[in-house]
Amino acid sequence: MAPPGGSSARKSVACSAKRSPLETETEEHVARLEKVFEEIGETPRGKTCDAIMGIIEEGQEVMKEFRGAPALDTGLLAAAQAVEHYEIARYGTLKTWAAELGLKQSVKLLEATLAEEKKTDEALTELAESEVNHHAQAA
Ligand SMILES: [Fe+2]
Repeated sequence: MAPPGGSSARKSVACSAKRSPLETETEEHVARLEKVFEEIGETPRGKTCDAIMGIIEEGQEVMKEFRGAPALDTGLLAAAQAVEHYEIARYGTLKTWAAELGLKQSVKLLEATLAEEKKTDEALTELAESEVNHHAQAA
């Protein structure tokens, strides 16, 4: 026997699943990069970033090592911030290069993304300082 609402209820749950603000922001970052490539007359192509893969691997080690421990969230926050710091470094460099090349539209696009990366980093810092680290210390 089907649960109340049956498959149509499940379907509506699946259909109402929205993208997280972070996913939407990432899509916007990709769209901006596509515009940067347009300005320089190049075609973007995907490439695996070894640095980010390393940070993700580090996060996975933290998950294994601190599973169930109060320090888990602190460790994961640190890994998330490492990603943001890497992005800030790269977008900052790209913005500088775009300025040196006189690519005005690209400077604005990269500046917008850089500002969002910094904002995310600040939010993570605030979270770490206000909640997670206190819980880790209390345990
Ligand atoms: Fe980011």
